[in-house]
Amino acid sequence: MAAQNVGAPPSVEAVKEVAKDGQVVDPYNVSGAKDKDGNLMAIDYEKLRQQFGTQALTDEHLQRFERVTGKAPHRLLRRKLFFSHRDFDQILDHYEKYGFFLLYTGRGPSSGSMHLGHAIPFLFTKELQDIFDVPLVIMLTDDEKFYFTRNKAAAEAGGKKKFDSNVGDFINYAYGNCKDIIALGFDKQKTFIYSDYEYMGGHFYQNVTEFESLVTNSQVRGAFGWQDSTNIGLNAFSAKQCVAAFATSYPVLFGDDDHRSPHYAQLRPTQRVADIPTLIPCAIDQEPHFRIMRDCCSRMQFKSPKPALVLSKFLTALQGAGGKMSASDSSSAIFMSDTAREIEKKIKKYAFSGGGVDRETHERDGGNPDVDVACIYLSYFLESDEELEAITTSYRKGTLSTGEVKKRCILELQKFVAAFQERRAAVTDTLMREYMTPRKLEFKGNPNPTAPAGAAEEGVATEDNNADDAGEKSGRGTKGERKAAKLAAKKLAHREKKEGGAEAKEDVSTPAQQ
Ligand code: TYM
Repeated sequence: MAAQNVGAPPSVEAVKEVAKDGQVVDPYNVSGAKDKDGNLMAIDYEKLRQQFGTQALTDEHLQRFERVTGKAPHRLLRRKLFFSHRDFDQILDHYEKYGFFLLYTGRGPSSGSMHLGHAIPFLFTKELQDIFDVPLVIMLTDDEKFYFTRNKAAAEAGGKKKFDSNVGDFINYAYGNCKDIIALGFDKQKTFIYSDYEYMGGHFYQNVTEFESLVTNSQVRGAFGWQDSTNIGLNAFSAKQCVAAFATSYPVLFGDDDHRSPHYAQLRPTQRVADIPTLIPCAIDQEPHFRIMRDCCSRMQFKSPKPALVLSKFLTALQGAGGKMSASDSSSAIFMSDTAREIEKKIKKYAFSGGGVDRETHERDGGNPDVDVACIYLSYFLESDEELEAITTSYRKGTLSTGEVKKRCILELQKFVAAFQERRAAVTDTLMREYMTPRKLEFKGNPNPTAPAGAAEEGVATEDNNADDAGEKSGRGTKGERKAAKLAAKKLAHREKKEGGAEAKEDVSTPAQQ
């Protein structure tokens, strides 16, 4: 395959090559390749990583994470279920020096309840928010799911399939999913959750139109497989998911004003907010959006750093490792709304077994925990590394049976889902509205950033404009960094004076020093 620039959208040839190989992963399609007999094979994540041009998350990253935060990495990171990244190092650099970044993730509300796979990036994001003490935005793309579902219905049955949903259904799904997400435990002071139908406007929509003007049809066709028949809403949608990663899309969260009814207080964003970098945790299916984004960041009027990503594998469908859980196929997924009995039934009936064909064979040859769905689920949800190791070792040896592993898996999932459902029952409409109200977020970030106040506002830590990044660090930053920071602080003071009224705004870029 031709070499692909990191961050560039895939070439048409690259996309064709992926299709030829049979493995397809994009935000709208996830499927492993088929073998010569037509059987679905497990997704080859290493191949995918290379095709996408993302980096591997290594043991060095885990060690650095522990050094920077003083905390052990989450089990999903320890077990490399989050296995790939873009610019994770830069985000850690930025946090060490300047104190905080923006976390951004999302959900496309295609049904009233999320499944366990959807919970994975949120569990990880919550841990990151708690550890780094940083602001978080969660986008609910009810508009995307409306476009997508209608597009799918139009394509099915030669256009004869009736589309019997409406915009209101997707807004209601967004509310249901919003409550699910709140029940996963996000800190209200630091979290803003929004539905696209509600929030679009102001600086966000200014960013959308500017971004749309930078992306061509051929780029979105390459990344998502859109065709002439694709509806124009879906064709343009990616711009919204991309600009949602710009801090300028949320001025109020950072103490700026927006350009919205009724006051229209501030026409355009500020560079101070544009300079805040973003980290996006998600599964690797969402990466094609952000690849396009990274290509366009520096072409926006208010330039922002390219977003960093941490990317996970998919919690596999019950049927095995060639697909992911899907909300539209209830036998492939365990939903957060499933009862204990339903969980038990689904695991017993559908979970693909990596065990021997009968007891004798299993005891003689052992099982394969790498393809056994109950073992795979335990690797996502069981906290104890020791117990997981003991289970996989005995399963491999054949001393633990498929039935026993399934039993352990059922218990663990029932425990997780029951605790979730208890919290979910307590999420009221009023609480949901509090999370969904744009307001200044309260966060502390890194209590001991090494760079002086004012530096972050000028974006000196971003990969695009920081030639000093590799420089030797003293406790206060390199000499070059200190010089740049001083200059930046001077420039900022000058700009604020010029803009007038800006002095009333609080400094959000170095919250630890407020
Ligand atoms: P959606 O609703 O398809 O998925 C929501 C999040 O869950 C991840 N995901 C999974 N992770 C592990 N195992 C699975 N089986 C699995 N299925 C889905 C997705 O990667 C995603 O992180 N357009 C997006 C919503 C969105 C978004 C974002 C997602 C808007 N902005 C920023 C991530 C980051 C969507 O429809 O996601």
